[in-house]
Amino acid sequence: MEDLSLHILDIAENSIRAGATEIKIRIEEDVDNNLLSVSISDNGKGMDEEMLKKAADPFFTTKGERRIGLGLSLLGQAARESMGDFRINSEKDRGTVIEARFQYNHIDRKPIGDVAQTLIVLITANPDIDFLYEQINRRGHHVIDTKEIKKSSRNKSVSIQKLIKIIRNTIGPSMHT
Ligand SMILES: Nc1ncnc2c1ncn2[C@@H]1O[C@H](COP(=O)(O)OP(=O)(O)OP(=O)(O)O)[C@@H](O)[C@H]1O
Ligand SMILES: [Mg+2]
Repeated sequence: MEDLSLHILDIAENSIRAGATEIKIRIEEDVDNNLLSVSISDNGKGMDEEMLKKAADPFFTTKGERRIGLGLSLLGQAARESMGDFRINSEKDRGTVIEARFQYNHIDRKPIGDVAQTLIVLITANPDIDFLYEQINRRGHHVIDTKEIKKSSRNKSVSIQKLIKIIRNTIGPSMHT
């Protein structure tokens, strides 16, 4: 995967499969401390301790028909390749938090990519899930909260055009940084 935005899409798919009704995605670019952190949290079915130990193993999956599950292990690898770290916290029946941190200026750190596109795909494909996106960088602290967006539109359904406008206006063009 080229961009972190695609990893985020992939990790959020795990949350969706875990039955989450709320997914939070947070990206913080802390250039002063040479740190980029990305987290994805959900209120899905979570994992027990035994599963949690195996979750980042590429040979562990609960996707029935297959033998390998690469999403978490690839993000962990991407983090480690840039001298960062990777953590998974999960509690059975409560939810899961995935956090990847990267050395911001590391030559092997993947670009963030088109997060707006990732959000548009996730939100339009999963209208019943609440997404909260937080982006913290030099341009400020920006939030996209689908609960709020739905509240402000009369019939609770938001057109794709409107959603794209809100997302692009809030977080700007793709982050090729
Ligand atoms: N958010 C989550 N909530 C509950 N279980 C999870 C979550 N994320 C991952 N898991 C568990 O960890 C396993 C490994 O996840 P991973 O993303 O690495 O692989 P996968 O989703 O099985 O396959 P792939 O991502 O390659 O399509 C999953 O099969 C699932 O059992
Ligand atoms: Mg996966």
